[in-house]
Amino acid sequence: MLSVANIDVSYGHAKVLHNIEMQISKGEMVFITGRNGAGKTTLLKTIAGFMKPDSGTIEFEGKNIIGIPPERVALLGVRYVFQDKRVFSNLTVRENLEVAAYPVKEKITDAIEKVISIYPKIEKFLNMRAGSLSGGQRQILLIGRALIGKPKLLLIDEPTEGLAAGTINDILNVLSKMKGTFSLLIVEQNLSVVGMLADRVYMMKEGKIIKEMADKKEINNKENLEKYL
Ligand SMILES: Nc1ncnc2c1ncn2[C@@H]1O[C@H](COP(=O)(O)OP(=O)(O)O)[C@@H](O)[C@H]1O
Ligand SMILES: [Mg+2]
Repeated sequence: MLSVANIDVSYGHAKVLHNIEMQISKGEMVFITGRNGAGKTTLLKTIAGFMKPDSGTIEFEGKNIIGIPPERVALLGVRYVFQDKRVFSNLTVRENLEVAAYPVKEKITDAIEKVISIYPKIEKFLNMRAGSLSGGQRQILLIGRALIGKPKLLLIDEPTEGLAAGTINDILNVLSKMKGTFSLLIVEQNLSVVGMLADRVYMMKEGKIIKEMADKKEINNKENLEKYL
């Protein structure tokens, strides 16, 4: 459903992604891992339409999406949860969902149902200011917002970054509930999380994909993944 081929991406004159190749099938949960600065965020931004590659192709459901602005890429079904975890702090959780539901004309009750299906506790927080949520709850709200409309491919950048172990479990739960219902491409540096959930892993280093793993046993072995960091 997503096919990236020969992508090079630069900031000004500095090339940061080199000849990236990547495929994602329908319903697959694929992870990208690698150290800070490897180019993981840049790759997600490029797929979501926020950056234009210097060369190469990106096809989503057989259609070239390079040059399509990000808001239209989102309407095609590619939803993107940024690394910065920013919510509308002064709005309530419900209002945060309303802001996402409005442009895609989804009923707010349906949107809330979707979020409840991955995280039932959200019901208790609907009238609270989003700014008062914990880091983990904020991350789940952002994932919930991305479920509004009809996601076909969900891109999530470092969902467990900076979270305590207990909270990481909540995120693991949410991710496993979504697994298989649409395609997911998740950037993650916590190798335990990768090992538990990934169908496939791409390892990135210095702007290149240096290794792809598809064998469940191979992926579930932390030392195996660490070798490529
Ligand atoms: N806005 C920017 N302008 C210039 N260089 C950037 C910008 N954002 C990231 N970079 C550089 O691009 C490289 C890849 O960054 P990034 O994609 O954020 O990596 P990762 O998400 O793997 O930590 C790094 O060398 C980083 O310094
Ligand atoms: Mg990043």
